Amino acid sequence: MVQGSPFVVVANRLPVDEVTDDTPATKTIAGRRWRPSPGGLVTALRPVLIDHQGTWVGWSGSSGAAPAPFDMDGFHLVPVALSDDEVERYYEGQSNSTIWPLYHDAVEPPIYRRRWRDAYREVNRRYAQAAAAVAAEGATVWVQDYQLQLVPSMLREMRPDLLIGFFLHIPFPPIELFMQQPQRTEVLRGLLGADLVGFQQRLAAQNFLRLARHLLGTPYSGNTLEYEGRRVKADAFPISIDVGEMQRLSDNPLVKERAEQIRKELGDPKTIILGVDRLDYTKGIEHRLKAFRELLSDGKLSVPETVMVQVATPSRERVEHYQALRVKVEREVGRINGDYARVGVPAVHYLHQSYSRSELAALYCAADVMMVTPLRDGMNLVAKEYVASRADHGGALVLSEFAGAAGELRQAFLCNPHDLDAVKEALMRAATVDPAEARRRMGIMQRHLRRHDVAAWASDYLQSLAEIGSSTEPHMELKHDH
Ligand code: ADP
Ligand code: F6P
Repeated sequence: MVQGSPFVVVANRLPVDEVTDDTPATKTIAGRRWRPSPGGLVTALRPVLIDHQGTWVGWSGSSGAAPAPFDMDGFHLVPVALSDDEVERYYEGQSNSTIWPLYHDAVEPPIYRRRWRDAYREVNRRYAQAAAAVAAEGATVWVQDYQLQLVPSMLREMRPDLLIGFFLHIPFPPIELFMQQPQRTEVLRGLLGADLVGFQQRLAAQNFLRLARHLLGTPYSGNTLEYEGRRVKADAFPISIDVGEMQRLSDNPLVKERAEQIRKELGDPKTIILGVDRLDYTKGIEHRLKAFRELLSDGKLSVPETVMVQVATPSRERVEHYQALRVKVEREVGRINGDYARVGVPAVHYLHQSYSRSELAALYCAADVMMVTPLRDGMNLVAKEYVASRADHGGALVLSEFAGAAGELRQAFLCNPHDLDAVKEALMRAATVDPAEARRRMGIMQRHLRRHDVAAWASDYLQSLAEIGSSTEPHMELKHDH
């Protein structure tokens, strides 16, 4: 009998990154300093882990020997070590220069390297071993995202007693794109090691089922396929946010005060346009800046009545695509400010920094128009955070049709981010919308989010996984009572 945790999450990153330089940390545990790690996966899964009191297996964000396992916020963290070479080949290479661009419609060309694939396999095995070592007999292990697609099958081989789930946070591409991957069969077989493969959208689940039939001749009926004598289910579970947390933050008098202060600091403009993204080429930051520049040049918007704030969180800074993007974005910001700013009155406030949740909430509360215009995005939690933070039903959301969130937030000002005129039009409609109409739209979207928060997402997924488990072998009971 293996002693261990009944519920294990395996993700590339832990919810905290170790701070190894002299930048500020938010927590010190056993002499090591930590700060929250970036991205939507962590925002979504942290409350789920707190709720289930499970174990989180992941990388500490720095290379070299892994810190010892530790506890935080009532759950257990098990760091996985990555060497410098593995960070380069598994994380920056295969995960973020091959799979990330390929799965996002190849908006940047994916790069294929054999040595990256080998590292991806080796590192996936290490995560599977770490999960196998901490999972109790019959435990539920939930593997997350594109960095760990081989883990489900490796884990099943090591521990056939486990109930294994996988959730992909990013889009799953159509067959013709997926087929470019030299590692395509291995990746597909890796995913098929899970009992339930979850996606953000129904179309992605269908892509997966069709791919299995195309590549392996695996038959499927409805959303279940037969693979090596087991049933594997593929389904959509659109992820969400901790709506309560966002509402509590935006109700906090200090956050409200800070939102007013931000407006003053920006020169009390009539319209504040906000963008908040990781500095990633999938997010459409450049397109959004160009739309703003053209509207200034057309005379439809003017400074200082309108200002734009673009928060661009540093991300994957050693990867070439990201370095090139930073140059392009900063050049565009410089161009706009060169043409339209005055001394002390920038047209675009560009912030290449990370912020606390309360500062982000204050920015959301201050923004009249939120621009979320990715070229392709699995979900986009920023769009949901903005809506959840507007308890006043103020503000207007411009949202790309190519973000998963567009499937739910239908009252946003939707646009095709590849069509600059459409982005300009959506931005103008949002900036000039009648306040009663804006409140109506925001109210509907808020009601939707209250019913579909992150707890509901986890509960739906884990319920579905447990049903598969109970129809096969006895596995541990998990609480999912939302
Ligand atoms: P992705 O997972 O691709 O990064 P999402 O929009 O789904 O995109 O999630 C991004 C998450 O990161 C959100 O929860 C958002 O609040 C958070 N975030 C984005 N920018 C910052 C920042 N500058 N500082 C702190 N958190 C940020
Ligand atoms: O799903 C998007 C994602 O890759 C997550 O795995 C992660 O939360 C986020 O983007 C941030 O990326 P990284 O961990 O590479 O900084």
